[in-house]
Amino acid sequence: MKIELNQNKIYFNNGSVKKEIHPFWLRERVDGEEFLDKGTQQRLFDPTTLSSEISINTATIHEQFLEIDFNDGVKSKLNIDKLALEFSNEDTVIRSIPKIKWNSTLENIKNFEYKDGFFDSKEMYDLLVSFYKYGFVIIKNIPTEDNFIVKFANSIGSVRRTNFGEYFDVKSKPDPNDLAYTSLELSPHTDNPYRNPVPCIQLLHCIVSEVTGGLSTLVDGFTVTEDLKKENPDFYNILSEVKVRFKFIDKDVVLEDWSELIKLDDNKNFKQVRFSPRLDYVPMLDKEKLDLYYKARKKLSEMYNSEKYRIEFKLAPKDLMMMDNYRLLHGRTSYEVKEGNRFLQGCYIDYDSTEGKLRHLKRKFNI
Ligand SMILES: [Fe+2]
Repeated sequence: MKIELNQNKIYFNNGSVKKEIHPFWLRERVDGEEFLDKGTQQRLFDPTTLSSEISINTATIHEQFLEIDFNDGVKSKLNIDKLALEFSNEDTVIRSIPKIKWNSTLENIKNFEYKDGFFDSKEMYDLLVSFYKYGFVIIKNIPTEDNFIVKFANSIGSVRRTNFGEYFDVKSKPDPNDLAYTSLELSPHTDNPYRNPVPCIQLLHCIVSEVTGGLSTLVDGFTVTEDLKKENPDFYNILSEVKVRFKFIDKDVVLEDWSELIKLDDNKNFKQVRFSPRLDYVPMLDKEKLDLYYKARKKLSEMYNSEKYRIEFKLAPKDLMMMDNYRLLHGRTSYEVKEGNRFLQGCYIDYDSTEGKLRHLKRKFNI
């Protein structure tokens, strides 16, 4: 990538494309000490108050600096390498981590080990990269006292509180308001599809595990929906077009949100899955459309529930699992209450927590 000058116009040239850089784009990036606060990197001026007729009187390049005199009297010296970092429209930190598709054959995934200073360590950086690759990660040796899960969440970012509280205890209890609080099998699902926004990441910490059942199950919604797209595009298309209603009620709250079961981003790529077939209600569409929708949902459910895609494992006391609730489905096998206790604690964080931490650690370790 090169910066080039021609008659007071500034161009970037990446070898295949040469484009003029808008003078205003450069003017709002002036970073002298009267224009930019060094500590916060926040502007000390409001570019929306500038004349939109900004132009360049003179421009020169000296080593790695672009020196510009603008027509409003401001002189600037901009670091070319710093400008070049901005030419991409993509989030180069998070998006550069490729999602790795996996199914039941997944093995040898690295577990992490909690220790002092963990949250600001290179190990934490590696953990977050692994999380973005696979959609989940397991950390061993997490203290089980004093609801440590909340401290864990707040040391990555901030707990996302819900009406279940700052954290929730997962054990069978009488008169439950959710099937999670029974000892029944839970088939693969995503959490809280009725919430706006849906909590991004679930943390689940095993405190006590005395039963032989109660295995954790995970399914990669990214793998399943990519396979569906290949094998049955009509099913994939309707599930990524039709918005359905998800609803939760209890005595204190009525939560409702509408979404596609497969949500795509602006580029028609995977963004999020929601799946909780006890809670979803499709609107009354034309009969032909519903015919297709119901077949598609059935197929998707069969794939999510198929052994081909599911991994099963037992969380031991002190194990903490962190999973992407927009990408993975989770569940558990049933267990027998008479055998003993099973006690997990859960809470949520959002992507700003993991993304903020990852960018911070990347900066800290100059990666
Ligand atoms: Fe759940």
